[in-house]
Amino acid sequence: MEKYVIKGGNRLQGEVTVSGAKNAAVAILPAAILSDEPCTIENVPNISDIDCTIKILTQMGVQVKIINKSTLYIDPRHIVNPTVPYDLTKNMRASYYFLGALLGKAGSARVSMPGGCDLGARPIDQHLKGLASLGADGAVDHGMVHLESKNGLKGAHIYFDIVTVGATINVMLAAVKATGLTVIENAAKEPHIVDLANFLNSMGAEIMGAGTDVIKIRGVKHLHGTQYSIIPDQIEAGTFMVMAAATKGNILIKNVIPKHLESISVKLEKIGAIVEEYDDSIRVIGTGRLEKTSIKTLPHPGFPTDMQPQITTLLTLAEGTSIVTEGIWDNRFKYVDELRRMGADISVDGKVAVIEGTGHLMGAPVKATDLRAGVAMIIAGLAASGITEIEDIHHIERGYEDIELKLRALGADIKKIHSPENEMPLAL
Ligand code: EPZ
Repeated sequence: MEKYVIKGGNRLQGEVTVSGAKNAAVAILPAAILSDEPCTIENVPNISDIDCTIKILTQMGVQVKIINKSTLYIDPRHIVNPTVPYDLTKNMRASYYFLGALLGKAGSARVSMPGGCDLGARPIDQHLKGLASLGADGAVDHGMVHLESKNGLKGAHIYFDIVTVGATINVMLAAVKATGLTVIENAAKEPHIVDLANFLNSMGAEIMGAGTDVIKIRGVKHLHGTQYSIIPDQIEAGTFMVMAAATKGNILIKNVIPKHLESISVKLEKIGAIVEEYDDSIRVIGTGRLEKTSIKTLPHPGFPTDMQPQITTLLTLAEGTSIVTEGIWDNRFKYVDELRRMGADISVDGKVAVIEGTGHLMGAPVKATDLRAGVAMIIAGLAASGITEIEDIHHIERGYEDIELKLRALGADIKKIHSPENEMPLAL
């Protein structure tokens, strides 16, 4: 079993380069199978969710060549098996993007019901409703979603009951190859939706309006190969921003799109950090003065739910009472028990957390309950006095490339230990 061991208290200083966006990459790699020719995709993050996506592609008959650490060559001309089995979907939610992609490519898809972070109920009714509107009949059978468009996919007018990233992406993937016009209303507007649309358009798709709540897609018969670079990861960047504020640090975060970080920048400034924006980088300086605030997570351009555990952790270090309301997921405060072990004073009632800032945290053994909760434990450990040991770090490695190396280069005292006999947390 691997753990991170962190000796807290160091100010993080220096420069860090953000990797490609996980939530864009896990949509763009499946989207590449829609092409009739090979594609080269750059700025792919080197994380375990991408390893898993590559395995899915490979077992399907897609040729994937790793050109270098962040560049993949994907040749989808010889798909033999439009199926994604359970052992490859159980750990990764986004495996369900193969539903839309395979439907668009082959007219049928068999994808095991996905796993991923446990954040409460994660139904896929809107995905199935959207794909059914395009003409994909389906059933869930023994944990497999089986969809088929017997008469070919046809463009349709789809209104989502709620704003959903996943269903917006799945419908886009299928609709690019449907005949006629698809209109998605109440679409999600996250940066990775726009990135997917740009990728598909670079292959010859006709998608308009991505980034607004109405997306129009005129189906095309063929998509050609492309060379495309994925956007930087908004949430990785936001995580380093919070780390600077939490450690009284001074970090220049490079390879970012500052516009994507606005909701995070505004809150960090309110809490007391200094944020300086440049063209493709952002500097955050922790002043040591952290003030209470109220935050509600919302779909983009609101404050991202994927930054909620990180900001809640920061607020445990602030003066006064803060309130964080989770606006997307039913159960995204499970990590609070772990923070309490480090001395945090947080009460949770449903989707609302009340944080009594205690000004400091104490190192303790904790576990990563999911991806963002796991990185929140790293933030807590960096800011805490003493030693923090974090278990179940496979969750963190799903979404953060080289986090330990990047943090060490910023001056953090963090180390990954590999087995119980190596456990020497004080010998850092
Ligand atoms: C994406 O999940 C992200 N994952 C999540 O990031 C992120 O938290 C979430 O969007 C919200 O921004 C990926 O992009 C791979 P949704 P997704 O469909 O697409 C309900 C991370 O940490 N809903 O926008 O699964 C759902 O229950 C991960 O990187 C339905 O009711 O989220 C939720 O309450 C965690 N029916 C809300 O909509 C549906 O058919 C938003 O979910 C679909 C969703």
